[in-house]
Amino acid sequence: MRVVDIINKKKKGEALTKEEIEFFVQGYVKGEIPDYQIAALYMAIYFQGMNDEEIADLTMAYVNSGETIDLSGIAGVKVDKHSTGGVGDKISLIVIPLVASLGIPVAKMSGRGLGHTGGTIDKLEAIQGFRTALSTGEFIANVNNHGMAVVGQTANLTPADKLTYALRDVTGTVDSIPLIAGSIMSKKIASGADAIVLDVKVGSGAFMKSLPEAKKLAECMVQIGKSLKRRTIAIITDMNQPLGHEVGNANEIKEVIDVLKGRGAADETRIALTIASYMAIASGNYHDFQSTYAELQQVIASGKAIEKLKELISIQGGNSQIVHEPAQLPQAKHHIEVLANHAGYISSIDAEQIGLVAMLLGAGRKKKDDPIDYAAGVTLLKKVGDYVDLDEPLCILHTNLEYVEADVLKAYGFQESKPDPIEYIHEVVK
Ligand code: URA
Repeated sequence: MRVVDIINKKKKGEALTKEEIEFFVQGYVKGEIPDYQIAALYMAIYFQGMNDEEIADLTMAYVNSGETIDLSGIAGVKVDKHSTGGVGDKISLIVIPLVASLGIPVAKMSGRGLGHTGGTIDKLEAIQGFRTALSTGEFIANVNNHGMAVVGQTANLTPADKLTYALRDVTGTVDSIPLIAGSIMSKKIASGADAIVLDVKVGSGAFMKSLPEAKKLAECMVQIGKSLKRRTIAIITDMNQPLGHEVGNANEIKEVIDVLKGRGAADETRIALTIASYMAIASGNYHDFQSTYAELQQVIASGKAIEKLKELISIQGGNSQIVHEPAQLPQAKHHIEVLANHAGYISSIDAEQIGLVAMLLGAGRKKKDDPIDYAAGVTLLKKVGDYVDLDEPLCILHTNLEYVEADVLKAYGFQESKPDPIEYIHEVVK
């Protein structure tokens, strides 16, 4: 078999066989196929798509590229959650301690930043000492003993996704339904979850810009999950403006702490409680959405949720003192206020543009192996629906760079009348 023939086949829109998919996935992981051929093939997939059978074969080829974790020895239904990627999307870090506080085991496998979006693993690494490269034994032991664990992809777990994820990030091949579905579902299946809740983002800051596209992706992943006998629920949530007020890494951890202490922004508190409720329901231990939601609110109010975050940080080797003293997180040298160039109500904040600005400030990667500056990011002082006067501060840019060319004002739209409130939850696909 030759990769160039597979590229040409997909370029013409033909379906690839299971053998062809396994061939290029294994060849890439073994280092026998170069980046440029996989980049060309993924661009062909981006334009030509894949049918359901190809997507299932791609998912399983990623799963089989490394070890899989068997959590069947741990009592209860183990749940995992994954987002398709957003800006300021720190929901995973809020729901892990929340759901674990209910006594439901959370076995979470996460990724790094992709394109203009942030990644849970990068955010966690902003906490001094936090280890995301757990061995399989440690991962299982943490779920067993503490009811929660977070692991990144390692040489052992879905290495094919780890490698292609980084390549897609810098080759314009992220926002493809088959590639996203294969990437996400392979991680969920390899990490041993019995039940999966997917946060499918839609809007200006998401890879899926329209509701029909987001629904197609949600249905595709729910279908893969069901065919592999995993309880799978997808929630389509709004990403037309960044989530919450912080975009970056260390500053997002600060905001996670705020939400778990009960003083979070309305949008992310609502989305996090909704996702956490569906995780509890997917575990089979909870049945009614409203009462589960109320119980989770109580978990926050009682202080149990923030204690569980502290425990998570500490069992994975991180400095858990940051829960009490967030100022111990990395801090940038420069904090630049951006002033409004219009008076009026904010009608839109282009989340993708804010994500790009955060990346230029140092919070994300321009190239595959670029280091991240955990202190860099953006604090949004105003959100859609807020009124601003001319020259009133809109946001603060945090950076260690001496010079950055980043057009943040381009992200903002203004209007004279107050815009309609944003719908945070669009649809639930089961
Ligand atoms: N998140 C993932 O894990 N993979 C994707 O392709 C997109 C978002």
